[in-house]
Amino acid sequence: MAMFGKRPGDQSAAPRAPAPASASAGAVFAPAGTPSMPATPAPVAPPPPAPEVRRSDEYYQTKSLIFGALIEAIDLSQLSKLDSENAREEIRDIVNEIIAIKNVVLSISEQEDLLEDICNDVLGYGPLEPLLARDDIADIMVNGATRTFIEVSGKIQLTNVRFRDNAQLMNICQRIVSQVGRRVDEASPICDARLLDGSRVNVIAPPLAIDGPALTIRKFKKDKLTLDQLCRFGSISPEGSEILKVIGRVRCNVLISGGTGSGKTTLLNCLTNYIDLDERVITCEDAAELQLQQPHVVRLETRPPNLEGQGAVTMRDLVKNCLRMRPERIIVGEVRGPEAFDLLQAMNTGHDGSMGTLHANSPREALSRLESMITMGGYALPPRTIREMIVSSVDVIVQAARLRDGSRRITHITEVMGLEGDVVITQDLFLYDIVGEDANGKLKGRHRSTGIGRPRFWDRARYFGEEERLAAALDASEVRE
Ligand SMILES: Nc1ncnc2c1ncn2[C@@H]1O[C@H](COP(=O)(O)OP(=O)(O)OP(=O)(O)O)[C@@H](O)[C@H]1O
Ligand SMILES: [Mg+2]
Repeated sequence: MAMFGKRPGDQSAAPRAPAPASASAGAVFAPAGTPSMPATPAPVAPPPPAPEVRRSDEYYQTKSLIFGALIEAIDLSQLSKLDSENAREEIRDIVNEIIAIKNVVLSISEQEDLLEDICNDVLGYGPLEPLLARDDIADIMVNGATRTFIEVSGKIQLTNVRFRDNAQLMNICQRIVSQVGRRVDEASPICDARLLDGSRVNVIAPPLAIDGPALTIRKFKKDKLTLDQLCRFGSISPEGSEILKVIGRVRCNVLISGGTGSGKTTLLNCLTNYIDLDERVITCEDAAELQLQQPHVVRLETRPPNLEGQGAVTMRDLVKNCLRMRPERIIVGEVRGPEAFDLLQAMNTGHDGSMGTLHANSPREALSRLESMITMGGYALPPRTIREMIVSSVDVIVQAARLRDGSRRITHITEVMGLEGDVVITQDLFLYDIVGEDANGKLKGRHRSTGIGRPRFWDRARYFGEEERLAAALDASEVRE
């Protein structure tokens, strides 16, 4: 039966001897050159089950037994010659044979689960595979081998997924990051990467993560949400979405503000849908998430430093370079540092319609965050000058929020009006009010305009022939009581 080979992505052949017991935290690193996957199960009892784990210890013991026999039986150096379908078939054949020889008693469904699990361990991302295959999950958060959480519909829940031990989890992390040419180990325990499907990945390993590797995945949605879908979810009202469409089209400079996972990137992506087809757009991101549909788009991505600490390309480098690329609009995935200055300058110097997201809990906080990013960037500018710069660059702030019932809402469309003394004046155009809570704990609320008929970007809207649409949307969303 010795006929299979290791996959090209693997670090080395599978071990023949039992791996050292490595279930304890602290001993989770596979030194360079040791097998990445699969490791023969450690000859110790499986870790105690978390109470919510549905599968029995017996299942894991059986799996360990069969896994061990499989590794003994196959020659991994041949496995790479097969495509993944055939490799799966071969593994299934052998596992079935082992089950027969070892006289393991399993129900048909247990046997199917086991086969699937083992194939995933050998060929893919192990216990993560079933989660990666689901499209309803927004985030996967692995806190060490025994606890994996997911976010579905805005709510975080514990799953029954668990890894054999921290070493297996670490090996899977290693496998993920090695696909993009990175390494994660004790020397460089923090790593950002991307899955082949575009999902954004962060790994932080011991000793920095105390209880085993922490892996966080923001699942990539192939079909990005559209404004129409956001309307259906109640994230924004149809009239509110009309206002956003106008804002996107008429080249307002927009900041999208929101907390972690509140839907900033999604909203930015929606707004870019309304950019005219003939505009030259340049996007700068840490990990490319945006999906612009226009034909004339240049996508740029930052780069972390290599192991020697060299070769980093920062967001600031990208935004500065953008300016030499004759952009009409610049889109910055996330503004979080000194690039804020360059983005504002770009907005200020004829690149109307530039956009970016930033982390803040209200439009006002977004403004002060912007100010402190510029101050911390080392520009010795008096606060008033920075504020002048902000008010002459930013037109609109759109605020996204994830509410306590898990729902995501657009809570503010706010205009930046100008400076009064040293204070930046803003004006809310459109708001979300929470009015109550239903029996299931779902928040009830409504979107409304604030009664302002002529926003500051009215002239712009007229220039683009969108003023009627804007007026109608504002009018229709007024609440008259
Ligand atoms: N209005 C919405 N309704 C339902 N789901 C949404 C909504 N907006 C975004 N999502 C989903 O929530 C998840 C997080 O969205 P997104 O990546 O846009 O957030 P973010 O604020 O950019 O997060 P981060 O701060 O991590 O960059 C995604 O899976 C996305 O599909
Ligand atoms: Mg984002």
